[in-house]
Amino acid sequence: MFPPSLLQRFGRRVRLGLVGGGLDSVIGQTHLLALRADGLADVTAGAMSVDPETASASAARLLVPQDRTYLDWRDMLDRERNRPDGVDVVVVMTPPHLHAEIAEAFLSAGIHVLCEKPLCATAADARRLADAVAASTALFGLTHCYTGYPMVREARTLVRTGLIGRVRLVEGQLAAGDPGVLREPDAPEDRHWRFRQAIAGKGAVLGEVGSHAHNLAEFVTGRRVTEVYAHLSTVAERREVYDNAYLTVGFEEGAVGRLWSSFVAAGNEHGLELRVFGDDGSLHWRQEDPEYLWLRRPGASATRLSRGTGEPGAAARAATRLRAGHPEGYVMAFATLYRDFLSAVIAAGLGEDPAEHLSLLPSVEDGLSTLLLAEAALASHNAGAVRPLARRG
Ligand SMILES: NC(=O)c1ccc[n+]([C@@H]2O[C@H](COP(=O)([O-])OP(=O)(O)OC[C@H]3O[C@@H](n4cnc5c(N)ncnc54)[C@H](O)[C@@H]3O)[C@@H](O)[C@H]2O)c1
Repeated sequence: MFPPSLLQRFGRRVRLGLVGGGLDSVIGQTHLLALRADGLADVTAGAMSVDPETASASAARLLVPQDRTYLDWRDMLDRERNRPDGVDVVVVMTPPHLHAEIAEAFLSAGIHVLCEKPLCATAADARRLADAVAASTALFGLTHCYTGYPMVREARTLVRTGLIGRVRLVEGQLAAGDPGVLREPDAPEDRHWRFRQAIAGKGAVLGEVGSHAHNLAEFVTGRRVTEVYAHLSTVAERREVYDNAYLTVGFEEGAVGRLWSSFVAAGNEHGLELRVFGDDGSLHWRQEDPEYLWLRRPGASATRLSRGTGEPGAAARAATRLRAGHPEGYVMAFATLYRDFLSAVIAAGLGEDPAEHLSLLPSVEDGLSTLLLAEAALASHNAGAVRPLARRG
């Protein structure tokens, strides 16, 4: 009556090694919650911090044995690749300028990689990493976590089925403005890497927050951005990188849109939302109210589509774990990305085709797309002119 699950057929949990995500990180705790949600994986090794004491303390809290607690990810790679019970997957959660080198090294050893966004810090690194993924037998996924929300997946389905007609206009934004990003600290040495030009680049806002708005727009519409006109500015005093970006963009198949990325939208909390307008109506989703998707049609009252109710498409149903009225939220959206990726890893381990599990998971090509946009946006701002994205054939 109940066929065995993928996990039962695999016979063990997937072994994860973490790079970054230590007690000194912002995103580590979210990953630890998300990766456990469906019981598909255990953390068995880690090089979790650039600081040795924090790396040890972070791994000890997860009961990672001392001989699998590493102070350098290169040691983790050397030792884990030679263990019969070595890690199946490495999760890369360092600052973006390190993603490409770490991911490439593990991929070349045949170890699957789940990588934080943005894919990396430069378009050149992104192109190289895309080539490394193509050349590897290992799988690669990118944690653009908002694509895991059921109502985001539903929006994608509804656009594809033609509910709002031909897509014409796209308005995406991740405009944050909490005290942690709004102002520079008094002492320059306290400045986060996000705001250091030497680490994150002058256009870091395009990768750090802009990548989410861009990824969400491409995910929901199914269309790539092809050209951009950018206005970038620095609002916070003493800040050395841009902290606000207005991008006017053109998409494949003729749609146009605006993507707003900001650290200085004072008073905004997270500030992520997307509106897509077609010939016959529009869809609107806000991450701070993620259970609902609004459908608006000319001359009619707005319809609130609610997670877990009605007849959602298969993608939204599969991402729904709880009944309507019991909010799922950010961690479960993140967990859905883990479930997709770990299911693909298990399928591959069983000699089966992993493709169906990866169909909605952001890919290296999606990450590359964001870095191409960032590159073209900087060029556009500097030239004061529209710039096409340098896509490969
Ligand atoms: N998906 C999301 O919603 C989301 C949210 C926040 C951050 N992020 C992304 O996650 C990544 C990390 O961001 P963060 O805010 O956690 O940064 P952070 O600075 O708070 O944490 C970085 C972590 O990496 C570790 N680290 C740095 N260099 C290392 C090295 N060489 N080896 C091992 N560990 C190393 C640090 O010690 C720390 O634990 C970034 O790419 C960021 O854009 C994603």
